[in-house]
Amino acid sequence: MTVKREILTVGHPLLRERAREVDPDELASKEIRALIDDLVDTMRAANGAGLAATQVGEMVRIAVIEVDHNPRYPYKPKIPLTVVVNPVIEPLDDELVEINEGCLSVPNLRGNVMRHVNVRVRHLDREGTAHDDVRRGLTAGTFQHECDHLDGRLFLDRVEDTTTLATWEQFERFHRKAFVERITAFVERVGS
Ligand code: NI
Repeated sequence: MTVKREILTVGHPLLRERAREVDPDELASKEIRALIDDLVDTMRAANGAGLAATQVGEMVRIAVIEVDHNPRYPYKPKIPLTVVVNPVIEPLDDELVEINEGCLSVPNLRGNVMRHVNVRVRHLDREGTAHDDVRRGLTAGTFQHECDHLDGRLFLDRVEDTTTLATWEQFERFHRKAFVERITAFVERVGS
């Protein structure tokens, strides 16, 4: 059993730094393998949809993503466990969607951000195999959120309308129903 890491919270300076690229040779190292295992365990223990290495204070371009009946985001389509190393995201067009996001590094706050709907994501996995995929909809949003972490950005930076900020309790009370209705219709249209 690997040790779970402490998740840094907003205000910690490391969350604001750009992480460095990982040399593919490093992926075989004990340290990087252990880090990836820790990221997966920590994400799952915290019910996160993703977790970037910077969120545990490791300044390398690695993130893990997984969605499977997530209690924090029950409307998100499933994403099998994906380890992304050195990700590069490229929008495929100008279509945007407003997504209500939260973050394990921003406890008890959610807010609306604009994300690209269709993106190309290139990355290595934990074995060093290269992937080149098109990601759409909420899944594309999740990839953009995690890649932002690797550049020292938080979803808060992208909140244009600060009146959308809400604690999880007030989101549940006042905003959840309308958001879930809108985003469910969007997911049915876009497919993920
Ligand atoms: Ni986050």
